[in-house]
Amino acid sequence: MNHLPKILVVTQNPQRQAFFEQTLSPYFELAVFRDIEQAMEECARLPRQVIIIDQNGRRDRNCDLFVEYSNQLRDKSPGLIATAGQDISFDIDQQEIEVPALFFNFPILPKALLDGVSRIIGEKAEHVWKELPEAIGRPLTLTVEEYQGISDAIANGEPIDCNSAAESCTPLIDAVGTGGHHDLLKAVQSHHNYTYVHSMRVATLLTLFGHGLGMKGDDLLILSTGGLIHDVGKLVTPEQILNKPGKLTEDEWPVMRDHVTRSTELLGASTDVTKGALIIASQHHEKIDGSGYPHGLKGKELNELARMSVIVDIFGALTDARSYKPSFPQEKAFGILESMQGQIDQDLLKVFRAIFVPGSDVEKQVA
Ligand SMILES: [Fe+2]
Ligand SMILES: [Fe+2]
Repeated sequence: MNHLPKILVVTQNPQRQAFFEQTLSPYFELAVFRDIEQAMEECARLPRQVIIIDQNGRRDRNCDLFVEYSNQLRDKSPGLIATAGQDISFDIDQQEIEVPALFFNFPILPKALLDGVSRIIGEKAEHVWKELPEAIGRPLTLTVEEYQGISDAIANGEPIDCNSAAESCTPLIDAVGTGGHHDLLKAVQSHHNYTYVHSMRVATLLTLFGHGLGMKGDDLLILSTGGLIHDVGKLVTPEQILNKPGKLTEDEWPVMRDHVTRSTELLGASTDVTKGALIIASQHHEKIDGSGYPHGLKGKELNELARMSVIVDIFGALTDARSYKPSFPQEKAFGILESMQGQIDQDLLKVFRAIFVPGSDVEKQVA
């Protein structure tokens, strides 16, 4: 089964078709049509997350029809990207189509197109979250805005505002306290910014873990904030490595692993980061037997916060859906963690499992 997000492309230009295929097909499932009517029929049968209309000339028949059909298909919420040659101005305006839309003139940088598609998918998810009950929708809306703010700060060379990150986590803590974690973990997956999705899931799971251990107040806030910002270093990892659909090469792994050092540097430059959040960010890939990175810390060098974050980070990654893999069922994820004897704290893992799956045999053992 193909888990890639689906994009429909309408173009009559073979060179541009090749560009769309080359740029997008590693990350998305593409269907290419020459004619808008066939494309819309296909879209009614199988809704697409984004439709790309490549204009031949100024405002051609395809675009007129797109406006008409996109309004009919509004409930399925396709987002639109319109592309055209260098000097062509777009005559479609946002109000006409009532769906998220972006406009690009060729030559288009592959990264700009990928970012655009990502933004449209993300915006749609955020729109759906606004319709969820407030207890679930608000933590998602606040943390995604916060994450965007962190991305902008990094891009502008400004320090990360960790107090603001902590504030955005307060509704998340409330939601977990009232049993909303399963809804949060599920709803956040519709967003297309994987680093945000993973970070929000780790924040939710760490909060749940802390809550189950009886932590309260500032201790819980450190866990959720630490979870939300633990991978900020990935915001400077090159896209082609971060979102590579296949396995990383020997040369690519060190670049990927470097995200931990980058997270530590970025958060270290912030005046208001807590010691606990910094430990979560800098030690979540360490292992008790010294086989982790970046420092190969061992045994007691890893405190409880670090040990909790290692478990939750792996569990989160295994149960995340990626473009190239479905999410693993939670039992399979726990099985993998249990096989990591010596690498992760198995006693803490039992506790986490009992908290995550209440009523399990493990819970009785722990009790
Ligand atoms: Fe990480
Ligand atoms: Fe992570």
